[in-house]
Amino acid sequence: MNKERKLIIAGNWKMNKTVAEALDLVRGLKIELANQKEVDVVVCPPFTALSEVSKAILDSNIRLGAQNMSEHNVGAHTGEIAAVMLKEFSVRYVILGHSERRQHQKESNALISRKALAAHAASLKPIVCVGETLAEREAGETEKVLETQVRGSLAGLTKDQMTETIIAYEPVWAIGTGKTATTQQAQEAHAFIRGLLAKMFDETVARRVRIQYGGSVKPSNARELMSQPDVDGALVGGASLEARSFAEIIKNSI
Ligand code: 13P
Repeated sequence: MNKERKLIIAGNWKMNKTVAEALDLVRGLKIELANQKEVDVVVCPPFTALSEVSKAILDSNIRLGAQNMSEHNVGAHTGEIAAVMLKEFSVRYVILGHSERRQHQKESNALISRKALAAHAASLKPIVCVGETLAEREAGETEKVLETQVRGSLAGLTKDQMTETIIAYEPVWAIGTGKTATTQQAQEAHAFIRGLLAKMFDETVARRVRIQYGGSVKPSNARELMSQPDVDGALVGGASLEARSFAEIIKNSI
């Protein structure tokens, strides 16, 4: 597939995999994806597996991401993890503002933008998640919701920082439900977000930013989703927990 931007496909393992299970998974991925260079491949294990997975992927093209981080650098923040701690394990990407955290940890757009700035300060690339609920889509509010999230979560970033930021469009109703947005729905939302980036930053930034689609991406729907002009990769949950299915998503996207 000849795309303007290099595809980036990331596996968000969420709260799954012990260290032993994580190592099994990356061993399988290394075999399945040996010599694959066409797509940027990222795995995002839970914090507890970062150290071992980091060592296991040293001799591969797989890159490491974390699922969250603190907005603070150091100090009295019980249970939090700072960007500099992620850097110790050669983490390059960090998912911020996943809808599960927006919903259950009440993360606000303002907090997510502070985390994005902290990530950039540590040279980590944030994967900033946005997406509407089913009720919002049915009420015709998708664009309004996306605009509020994009403007709020990316507030204060410079053009250079924005260029190094990845956006994941994840309609909440498609996450873990087996329901995927139609290719048209995905393309429309991605194009809307890119248009917004042009207004907030400029056309060049908008053209460079990679926008992933997330929500029940599977080997069977990856090709069609990735064929859309503004879909530049995927953030995969359930189907990233098995080497075969995650690798097939990547192979089917090329
Ligand atoms: P599923 O692929 O399991 O729907 O999860 C999507 C997601 O939330 C990735 O961040």
